[in-house]
Amino acid sequence: SLVAATPAVCVTTCSWDYIIVLNKAAPKEVRLFFLGAIHFFQTLTTLPMSAVTGEVKRVTTHVIQAMKSRGEKIAMLTAYDFSMARMLDEAGIDILLVGDSASNVMAGHETTLPITLDQMIYHAQSVVRAVSRAMVVVDLPFGSYQANSEIALSSAIRIMKESGAHAVKLEGGAEVEDSIKRILMAGIPVMGHLGLTPQSIYKFGTYSVRAKEEEEAQKLREDAKLLEALGCFAIVLEKIPATLTKTVSESIEIPTIGIGAGKHADGQVLVTHDMLGITKDFKPRFLRRYLDLFETIGLATKQYVSDVKKKEFPNDSEQY
Ligand code: KIV
Repeated sequence: SLVAATPAVCVTTCSWDYIIVLNKAAPKEVRLFFLGAIHFFQTLTTLPMSAVTGEVKRVTTHVIQAMKSRGEKIAMLTAYDFSMARMLDEAGIDILLVGDSASNVMAGHETTLPITLDQMIYHAQSVVRAVSRAMVVVDLPFGSYQANSEIALSSAIRIMKESGAHAVKLEGGAEVEDSIKRILMAGIPVMGHLGLTPQSIYKFGTYSVRAKEEEEAQKLREDAKLLEALGCFAIVLEKIPATLTKTVSESIEIPTIGIGAGKHADGQVLVTHDMLGITKDFKPRFLRRYLDLFETIGLATKQYVSDVKKKEFPNDSEQY
């Protein structure tokens, strides 16, 4: 069970074939010694804090779950490119979401609907190349999983194989149950997403707070339970009342990660471009801006333009 619980680590430390041969052929003492050694190695490589370096190792689904169990909040941000992902990873972010919000902030579309699976894979590849600690979760884009579970599985497999990401996220509850089951059966970790699900924006008609009425809140509570039962490792709760987030987070063992869902979620996520003030006009109540990069980058650019025009850049020491 030890081995089955952390297959990713075992694959990197020893071969499955070797374990099977040992299980069948080796004397009991040898098997116990070998499994003990694997256990020791796993302890070093999967604990949130390494006993050896004191530094945090790669964040996995197990680490995320352990954070909820010990009451440590999970910090997640979006990333779509190598340079930003590198900065966020080095700064200690737990999860990087290659969100389909790339459709808005990278490509300039009004909604998340136009982005394609190929484009998501391109963004995910860039992020994965930058990251050494954070877990990388990739959104399945609109149209890549809703039709049926076979299409959903093939989309998820493409993301995992072609980008090297660690998990996928998809929107919805009971409506996408079959797709989630099928993806999980292939061994791909799935993060759910309930509440305001931007891929359904034309159905909702507005980006306002979801599940304020009891009927929708009840469905959300049931969907959260369902996603947990299916085997999702976490659920994003977007733009719902804080009290509902509290009830849901207390009713399930897996972590909830909120955006506009209040302080009771087990973790928080923001779109990085909003958090850093790269986007300008998006100002919902839940958004805390930590920088105003729109302004800062604008000032730097004006200075550069002026320096070039005035022939002050480059100077003598800035040329060969
Ligand atoms: O695509 C995205 O950025 C998201 C977050 C808002 C959770 O799904």
